[in-house]
Amino acid sequence: MKRVITYGTFDLLHYGHIHLLRRARALGDYLVVALSTDEFNWKEKRKTCYFSYEQRKILLESIRYVDLVIPETGWEQKRTDVYEYHINIFAMGDDWRGKFDFLKEEGVEVVYLPRTPEISTTQIKSDLHVKKPE
Ligand code: CTP
Repeated sequence: MKRVITYGTFDLLHYGHIHLLRRARALGDYLVVALSTDEFNWKEKRKTCYFSYEQRKILLESIRYVDLVIPETGWEQKRTDVYEYHINIFAMGDDWRGKFDFLKEEGVEVVYLPRTPEISTTQIKSDLHVKKPE
């Protein structure tokens, strides 16, 4: 059984997220999603989420590709998560390419999946702010 892990905020869940989760799950048999907490998002990424951690968690748990959701509270937890959850493969969108290669030292396969073009939470938020003509 191959166990995969991925990390992210997954606010205003969209088809780019689903596409990422489907491909990450297909790399193995069990997918763990480490979901950024509201505090981690604010302190480390200066991001405010539309949906709270608990709301984002409920959405992710209802997706057929996701087996387990755990909190992401710090950058440094990756090294310990891979042991705690017996992870074989670490998968992220390729906006993070090269950033997590150090996990190879822990015997984990590191995979960067191509991002789905033209969609992001930031894009959705900004599109919804654009006023429509009268
Ligand atoms: N992702 C993707 N394709 C997209 C958007 C996101 O593959 N179009 C992936 C990211 O690469 C990451 C995961 O989905 O591995 C979670 O990304 P997240 O940052 O939560 O989503 P974004 O839509 O990129 O959010 P933001 O605009 O706030 O950065």
